Amino acid sequence: MNTPRFLTSDMISHIRENYQTPVYVYSEKELQERAQDLLSFPSSFGHTVRYAMKANPQKNILKIFDQAWLSFDASSDFEALRILAAGISPDKVQISSQELGNLAKELVESGVFFVATSLHQLEFFGKNFPWKSCGIRVNPGVSSGWFAKISTWGANSSFGIWHEKLDEIQDIAQKYDITLIKLHFHIGSENTPESWVASAEHWFEILRQIETITIFDMGGGHKMAIMPDEKSADLEAIWNAVSEKFLNFYEETWRRIHLEMEPGKYLVINSCSMVVEIQDIVDTGKDWYTFLKTNSGMNDMPRVAMYGVQEPLSIINDSDEYIDYAVVGHCCESSDIITSKLYDAESIEVRSFKKASIWDILVIDWVGAYNASMAIKNYNSFPESWELLLRESGEIIEIRKRENLVDIWRNEIDVM
Ligand SMILES: Cc1ncc(COP(=O)(O)O)c(C=O)c1O
Repeated sequence: MNTPRFLTSDMISHIRENYQTPVYVYSEKELQERAQDLLSFPSSFGHTVRYAMKANPQKNILKIFDQAWLSFDASSDFEALRILAAGISPDKVQISSQELGNLAKELVESGVFFVATSLHQLEFFGKNFPWKSCGIRVNPGVSSGWFAKISTWGANSSFGIWHEKLDEIQDIAQKYDITLIKLHFHIGSENTPESWVASAEHWFEILRQIETITIFDMGGGHKMAIMPDEKSADLEAIWNAVSEKFLNFYEETWRRIHLEMEPGKYLVINSCSMVVEIQDIVDTGKDWYTFLKTNSGMNDMPRVAMYGVQEPLSIINDSDEYIDYAVVGHCCESSDIITSKLYDAESIEVRSFKKASIWDILVIDWVGAYNASMAIKNYNSFPESWELLLRESGEIIEIRKRENLVDIWRNEIDVM
């Protein structure tokens, strides 16, 4: 039997009385605790915790992390602009983007740190900022990731400069007299202390060849166990294994490398629960399924449809009776399933729930990462949902209003 992770029944009643479901509710305490966890990791030569804001760019989350002394990684010009608009200092921001956007030059001029993720981007940096410093993202050619969709290393991945192109990297750096000071990796999910140790020679080889590098950014992608039978990456063990390698590297070379980690999910995933309502119950006969239809779905929470992740669900009522249900979203789309098989987004799985009625509340936990930010926004013209913040004091406040219906078509031009 599930109970919500941090929402009490009083909070749920308050939310129901004051807002229209569906609503995302973030916990300030969870966000702060996660940030403190990572900042307290031991490090021989100092370390930086850089929040991968793509996981959730809500202004207030950015500000909470800013106040907690985190730095930030932006994956596009627009993300970088968003963070600067939140009032965060450019010297805490790096941009490592798949696309070289039109505003990259202005961003670097304003003090944002640039990581080139392709030779073309490195050329751009050299041409515009000769004699300055930047980072490079390298694909070391070893694959990680527990399934192909989230692998960001290896020959199948377009992320980063292929490891065999170090000569070209150095030629560009020399041509423009730029200094490469940061090596940036992101290996995708399911990385373990063993996989990091096994790949150590790949990064040290690059560090030996490019002697100007003083910072190693190990990216994010640490698996977070959501359901009881899943296993989280042991981030502290990964960190210790990597730190030890860098201590050995120091003994060998006298180079002190500053470590950075760049998690997204780890910092935000468990900080958010979604409060939705059961808006219908239908079945496909006694041998098949009874479906609970909710008033939210892939337009608010796309991670199930994209990756087949499972999230803990709690029906809020006083029933003692338990029934097997499949839970689905409200979008007119067969992939809008909320209880899919693990990592098999297209297959329905039933789970045992308290006997539900229409209008019961359902709380979906662990939805803080890659849901609000990756939402299949406005599909079926559903407006973006409310976002609330549960303050440390216990007060619940609005941090984003429910989208106004006219906002959905505001930019359409009526030519008929
Ligand atoms: C460069 C980079 N850093 C960090 C992250 C964050 O990954 P996660 O949220 O899985 O920790 C990503 C995710 O795609 C990434 O591409």
